[in-house]
Amino acid sequence: DEIYYNEAYRDQYHFSVKEGWDNDPNGLVYFNGKYHLFFQFYDDIVWGPMHWAHATSTDLLHWENQPIALYPDANGAMFSGSIVADVNNTSGLFNDQEEGGLVAFIAVDGNGQRIKVAYSKDEGITWKKLDNIAIDWTEDPLQSVHFRDPKVFRWEGKWFMAIAGGPFRLYSSDNLIDWDLESTNADIYTECPDLYPIKASDGKIKWVLVGSKEFPGRKRFYKVGDFTKVDGKWTFVMDKDYEEDEGSTTFGKDSYATMTYYVQDFGTEANPTLPEILELNWMNSWEYSKILAETLHQDYAGTFSLNLKVGLIKEGDKYLLTESPIENYNKLRLNSKVQKWKNVKLTEDNTLLKDFKGELYEIIAKFHPSKRTKKIGFRLRTGSDEETLVYYDIENEKILIDRSKSGVILNEQFKDVDSMAMKLNEDGTLDMHIYVDRSSIELFTKDDTINAANQIFTKPTSLGASVLIEGEEATGDITIYPLKGIWNNE
Ligand code: FRU
Repeated sequence: DEIYYNEAYRDQYHFSVKEGWDNDPNGLVYFNGKYHLFFQFYDDIVWGPMHWAHATSTDLLHWENQPIALYPDANGAMFSGSIVADVNNTSGLFNDQEEGGLVAFIAVDGNGQRIKVAYSKDEGITWKKLDNIAIDWTEDPLQSVHFRDPKVFRWEGKWFMAIAGGPFRLYSSDNLIDWDLESTNADIYTECPDLYPIKASDGKIKWVLVGSKEFPGRKRFYKVGDFTKVDGKWTFVMDKDYEEDEGSTTFGKDSYATMTYYVQDFGTEANPTLPEILELNWMNSWEYSKILAETLHQDYAGTFSLNLKVGLIKEGDKYLLTESPIENYNKLRLNSKVQKWKNVKLTEDNTLLKDFKGELYEIIAKFHPSKRTKKIGFRLRTGSDEETLVYYDIENEKILIDRSKSGVILNEQFKDVDSMAMKLNEDGTLDMHIYVDRSSIELFTKDDTINAANQIFTKPTSLGASVLIEGEEATGDITIYPLKGIWNNE
């Protein structure tokens, strides 16, 4: 494994497919002390008849590749779906296993889309598909052939399944095999839906529905609300704030198909058992992923985001989703090489970081712009005409990421400057938390309610960073940790 990690554009602390193609994370589940990541896979450098590949980890940093889990069959390709740990054998599939086993819900794509069930008694290494289709799109009251990406969770002693790919539907089951319709919402149109409860900063339990879609608007979106019975049927009822507008945490191009890990039964309203919710995103875009491997002359295409921890904070009357890198990434810090500045004066011609030449690094910064500061942020991975800009435009109240000079440009869309409306913190400061890997940049700002992930394909000689400033008189606190990759120490 260590050898292939050395490739020119291979991220050094993000998981990526070893060879071939990957897109969405699938079947994320924590079981018997291990995290399982399954993902959309095809044995070529472009998308094709989908398989589920598999990798496992105990720390979400180091991953071990496992055999391909699911192959296409006579019914079609294995599109995205989820896995739960059936620890109480509600399915009756694990009579001979005390600790239960894994049950997968797969969207089978062929002549319309259907949900199939498979199970594994050996922690996801071998799978047996049940013969029957669990739910056929022809039974869908909305009659849409887009009937995919099932995500299953447990609440109030019942299993629930969110399905979309087109409009949003909710089903329920007692045994994971026979499913009944609960409700539909044709106004929510998305790929890869996910629905989970979370304790917000005000102590209330709220439900978050997340989705991904290519058009229109933001690629990843969320809505906050409640999961409750309406006319006797379980329904996701969104808060007023989210009825028309959707929320979005992310403005970069390379973040799609979010899925959260199944950890346990969420319990009941009266007695909730809410685990920490962790999520993963495909760090790529349908706008250019299919030309990526060929353009970069590599035999794989597909990387995942950092593992993120989800939170919900209340701002005024509104709940806002937060996504933060998990703490385990702190283990990558080369603490002896940290560089820190406190309350340092920043001018347009500053050379503060001129001696820093890192490739993999983390920046934690707090800026205090003055009345005359126009733009503030960083130039990342700079060298011979290359740089990636991450900065805040004070006049236009926008956060931006610009990779038009980030090295290999995959196509026109890849070059777009991505941005999002954002205000400075109430005290006039600006926070930035940035992770730089060999071929990607992830930014977290505004209390982690806003983030961006973008791949960059710079030369290996484009290293380090500098402070970007237009206008004068800013000050800042800046910490830079060089990071180690997961297979090497420096
Ligand atoms: C999202 C998606 C899913 C689908 C899968 C197919 O990226 O389009 O909706 O199940 O990819 O690979």
